Amino acid sequence: MISEKKLDETLSALFSDIRFGGQPAGLYDPLRYMIAIGGKRIRPRLCLLSYALYRDAFQPEILDCAAALEVFHTFTLIHDDIMDRSPLRRGRETVWRKWSGVTAILSGDVMLIDAYERVARAPEAVREAVMALFSRTAAQVCEGQQYDMEFETQPEVDAASYDRMIGLKTAVLLACSAKIGALCAGASEADCEALYRYGYSLGMAFQVADDYLDAYGDEKVFGKPIGGDILNGKKSWLTVHALALAPDKRRLQAALDAPAATEAEKAAKISAVTAMYDALGVPGAALAEIRRHTDEALSSLSAMGLGPVRMEALRRFAFQLVGRVK
Ligand code: IPE
Ligand code: IPE
Ligand code: MG
Ligand code: MG
Ligand code: MG
Repeated sequence: MISEKKLDETLSALFSDIRFGGQPAGLYDPLRYMIAIGGKRIRPRLCLLSYALYRDAFQPEILDCAAALEVFHTFTLIHDDIMDRSPLRRGRETVWRKWSGVTAILSGDVMLIDAYERVARAPEAVREAVMALFSRTAAQVCEGQQYDMEFETQPEVDAASYDRMIGLKTAVLLACSAKIGALCAGASEADCEALYRYGYSLGMAFQVADDYLDAYGDEKVFGKPIGGDILNGKKSWLTVHALALAPDKRRLQAALDAPAATEAEKAAKISAVTAMYDALGVPGAALAEIRRHTDEALSSLSAMGLGPVRMEALRRFAFQLVGRVK
């Protein structure tokens, strides 16, 4: 197995050495900007971790796949920020705000193409399987994003629909990242599937945590504006479960529908809705849900017969992911 230290070094070298296109700068600068700011890079990390379970060294092809996953993810963020009217990402101005909506669309498009070029360098023996999985996942992310948008204008969304939506927009990409690492390493089909399920459940936990932090995080650490989901009418985990639990739905609905044109109205709306979540015990329930998904992720691994060292690496990754504050 490849050590965690080696994985860390490989990951940071990968993104410090990465290069994108050339001219026109107006097209490529936003990509360079987003990749240089850097996020948590959990998808390439998961891909490399999954590969590391089976190998003693990273081959160049797996590095291309890991980079492809991050580039694809970053592309989804650039477009997501247009859709969510979000001014801040990774503690910095979003691409559509810094440049324009048109630039964000086109730079996002070229980023998706870049991701495809990289993933097409997967080892030949598994290239077809990797490309098929990547394409299916990319389409599923779009499906999830569409549900997310449609839910904004629906008065109520049930828990099963919420789970399906986040499964598509977020969990499948973590699942895909884990499975691509395993496929490239030549793991058995059963192991590839177990790691897919591990990634999927972690992705579910990760999105519930994201929804939780959107209301309860610290903006300076989280890097995104607190309360954005409330202002956008998002059916976040908090909203869906608050609506299900509220004895007086109309009062909660009124708070969720309150106007938020001015800065003062926005702040008042966020604190009124958050106070209702608190009164209903929603934040504690969200933390329990995160734990539930994390336990499920770990139990997906039980039939793999991994030794203690490999299990510990996967367990540590899971806890880092869900213990996040950013
Ligand atoms: C943000 O993903 C989008 C979600 C799926 C919640 P990350 O939280 O991984 O974003 P970065 O890449 O670290 O900025
Ligand atoms: C994003 O969900 C999921 C994507 C596929 C981009 P969010 O809209 O909650 O992500 P953030 O909070 O803006 O990062
Ligand atoms: Mg969104
Ligand atoms: Mg968003
Ligand atoms: Mg969010």
